Amino acid sequence: MAVLSKRIGLLDTENAFKIGPKIRSLEDQGKKVIKCNLGEPDFPLPDFIKEEVKRQLDLDNTHYCDPQGILPLREAVARHFAKTRRIETDPRRIVVFPGAKPPIGMSQEAYCNPGDEVIYPSPGFPIYESFTRYVEAKPVPVHLKEEAGFTLSGEDIARAISPRTKIIILNFPSNPTGGVASREQLADIAKIIQERCPPDVRVYSDEIYEHILFDGSQHESIASVPGMEKRTIVVSGASKSYSWTGGRIGWALLPTIEEAEVFKNLCINYFSCVPAYNQEGARVALESPLAPDTIRRMVGAFQERRDVIVEGLSKIPGIRCRKPSGAFYLFPNVSGVCERLGVFDAYKGLPADVKKITTPSTLLQMFLLFEYQVATMDRKSFGRIGTENLHYLRISIATDLDSLKQAVTRIGEAAEDVKGFARFVDKGMNLF
Ligand SMILES: Cc1ncc(COP(=O)(O)O)c(C=O)c1O
Repeated sequence: MAVLSKRIGLLDTENAFKIGPKIRSLEDQGKKVIKCNLGEPDFPLPDFIKEEVKRQLDLDNTHYCDPQGILPLREAVARHFAKTRRIETDPRRIVVFPGAKPPIGMSQEAYCNPGDEVIYPSPGFPIYESFTRYVEAKPVPVHLKEEAGFTLSGEDIARAISPRTKIIILNFPSNPTGGVASREQLADIAKIIQERCPPDVRVYSDEIYEHILFDGSQHESIASVPGMEKRTIVVSGASKSYSWTGGRIGWALLPTIEEAEVFKNLCINYFSCVPAYNQEGARVALESPLAPDTIRRMVGAFQERRDVIVEGLSKIPGIRCRKPSGAFYLFPNVSGVCERLGVFDAYKGLPADVKKITTPSTLLQMFLLFEYQVATMDRKSFGRIGTENLHYLRISIATDLDSLKQAVTRIGEAAEDVKGFARFVDKGMNLF
């Protein structure tokens, strides 16, 4: 008898967390790693949020609370949805979670039976694919095309829909591409869903990067398209907008009060409730008049870094890098660098068991980390199915500009270092 269940073996992971020990091992050797792997803003938690959390602790607001989320936060989220998405909602349809991540798996648990299909973007947040497998549903990736600006059309979604489709996941602005869908594109996707899917198919709209938009654009949600609110789970939270990944506050608007009750019960089963003092902090984050300027300053810094680093990367022969419209990631195509360094040939020559767990972009990622101390993420960290011939890296720009410029210099040097790459592969270590 095996110790662990068969099902637990189906669960994948988020490599952004897994790469941490590798980085630490290099740092322990005294090396300075430039961390372009991180999915969190590098700014401190704004003071007006900190002050509220401290005040709540002093008020001894440290006990169990409403497992659905405290009413003042759910009311603030409802007002936020009205203001930003033209959705007038009842706080009974809102549920609070420890971050925007838990409702991904909970949705799969709540809506999917084994064999049902989940459509999701690839490249996309790895938990979409991981949890689909875990609940024994079938992952159906829709590949976002670089030449289409990493967005989706209704036609792309139409090709993926089948009678077994149960959830369609969208994520704009996107991790890892920074792609953003326009209002017209969302309307096009919504039209296909309304025409082709029965009303019990759910759209899961992951809008955690809703505030991180460049060039003055405004966030658009598919839930604002007429007829979509009653099919859509809208998810967001405090992690990215307020640089508060450690606060673990996320929320979802469910299509009905009954569905919100199901999620509330999942919360009760998993963690009872989310710390009330942080929920009060999130309420202030949503409502404070200081918030818009704070967000504007952070987004301005990301935009400046985006412009400088896209330009720098684009000068490196073999790298093609689009300018993202949102989030804080660049997703350059590195096929040319792989070609020049001999990564494809090296990959072909690896033993079968190593080949199974690595990819060309993983070899490049590891070469950059171990030989040039730049931490990035490989393509397979954002979905595995059908990505064998796709060669990209995700570069987070949530690091100060000077370090990012240095990272570009190091990547440029690495891209020329054919002999160094051959030596790295010959060592046979750190290849995945
Ligand atoms: C697309 C996407 N969804 C959800 C999350 C999870 O956010 P949180 O830290 O609030 O759980 C992330 C975090 O990186 C993300 O990129």
